[in-house]
Amino acid sequence: MLSANQMLSQFDNNYQLGDAGMDTTHQEFLRHCQETAATTGSEFANKFKKLLDHTQAHFDEEERRMISIQHGAYKEHRADHQRILGDMTRFNERVQAGRGMMAKAWLNDSLLAWFDIHARTMDSALAADLKASA
Ligand SMILES: [Fe+2]
Ligand SMILES: [Fe+2]
Repeated sequence: MLSANQMLSQFDNNYQLGDAGMDTTHQEFLRHCQETAATTGSEFANKFKKLLDHTQAHFDEEERRMISIQHGAYKEHRADHQRILGDMTRFNERVQAGRGMMAKAWLNDSLLAWFDIHARTMDSALAADLKASA
């Protein structure tokens, strides 16, 4: 299982998609994950909320760009965003109520594993389509 640190250090080889906006957002996402995972208590709650807000904006922007080029996989891609955002929203409610342990385990395992696959498949396909539509 890769940590956010390892994923950032391997970003150029594994996650760079060649779309400047998406690449910047994805590096920011991994940095938010890294910073959040490194904290505890009320600091963890603050960082987790920032991660949630950043993720919401990240997904909104990709979905806006998908609509602008009539991306074929829009529905599936959006559904994958909604699933992970729903999980993150529910974990955030627990975190803000002072119950952060499960959320931290989810961040380190499920969320990063999700990003690894999502970036290499759906986001990669979107970046290629954006390039072709430019
Ligand atoms: Fe993305
Ligand atoms: Fe995406």
